[in-house]
Amino acid sequence: MVASQDALPAREAKPRAKAGQAPIIQVRNLEKTYTTARGSLTLFQGLSLDVKAGEMVAIVGQSGAGKSTLLHILGALDAPTAGTVLCASVNVAQLSPQEAAAFRNREIGYVWQFHYLLPEFTALENVAMPLFARGVSKREALNTAANWLREVDLADRGSHRPGELSGGEQQRVALARALVNNPRLLLADEPTGDLDETTANRVFDLIERLHKSHGLTSIVVTHNMDLAARATCVLRLEAGQLSRGQLSAPAAYTPQTGARAAKK
Ligand SMILES: Nc1ncnc2c1ncn2[C@@H]1O[C@H](COP(=O)(O)OP(=O)(O)OP(=O)(O)O)[C@@H](O)[C@H]1O
Ligand SMILES: [Mg+2]
Repeated sequence: MVASQDALPAREAKPRAKAGQAPIIQVRNLEKTYTTARGSLTLFQGLSLDVKAGEMVAIVGQSGAGKSTLLHILGALDAPTAGTVLCASVNVAQLSPQEAAAFRNREIGYVWQFHYLLPEFTALENVAMPLFARGVSKREALNTAANWLREVDLADRGSHRPGELSGGEQQRVALARALVNNPRLLLADEPTGDLDETTANRVFDLIERLHKSHGLTSIVVTHNMDLAARATCVLRLEAGQLSRGQLSAPAAYTPQTGARAAKK
């Protein structure tokens, strides 16, 4: 049982990760082409991915390779052009905007390089925001948020506004907010990208701790090879495909431009 669930109203119990389970993320024949007025850009063609429950996967790759786009698709923030994307047994490629919002709220904790905390609200209120959005009472939401601030070692910063927190503290609050709804999947897009080395290590330690203690399945995009090496599996996104291992510097990657690509 997760400590922070105590203050949550009864919800459908979510099975937590157990080693050796079937994939919780299963991507098949993923295609993504952006079409703009200036032409089309194909990022993935026939990309496949399996992530088992409980895994922490690091995704590395050249800037522009499509790492953020892949996370957006997995998290139902963007739609694939073709392919199947099964995430926690839901084919996210087929969700309506309303269903996608509900899916994200229920299953996905998202952390970005920038914290995106609301500056006019306190740390406690920021963490409680997803619970307010779900209609949880103010008292319960603030209790649960306080539990999560304790989990990220910021119990004494609840009344601080984001501008009164350090970069590492802001990111820890963002992590608490991402997990306050007790999702099964944590998607983190360069969560330590804005932090100095020591602070980045601390935030990554925290991600690892929460990943284990809450039975999460986590996908972390990072340019930091030392941090990537700490994941249970490292995947390199290159030339529109994912491959295992290899922490050496990637070859330069240029996405395929379609027939209508802008002329130089
Ligand atoms: N909405 C969009 N419309 C058109 N092209 C886009 C769109 N979003 C992203 N792209 C292009 O898709 C490519 C991949 O972008 P993405 O942000 O996924 O890369 P990334 O691997 O996350 O890079 P970085 O490491 O710099 O964050 C880039 O060339 C980008 O310009
Ligand atoms: Mg990116």
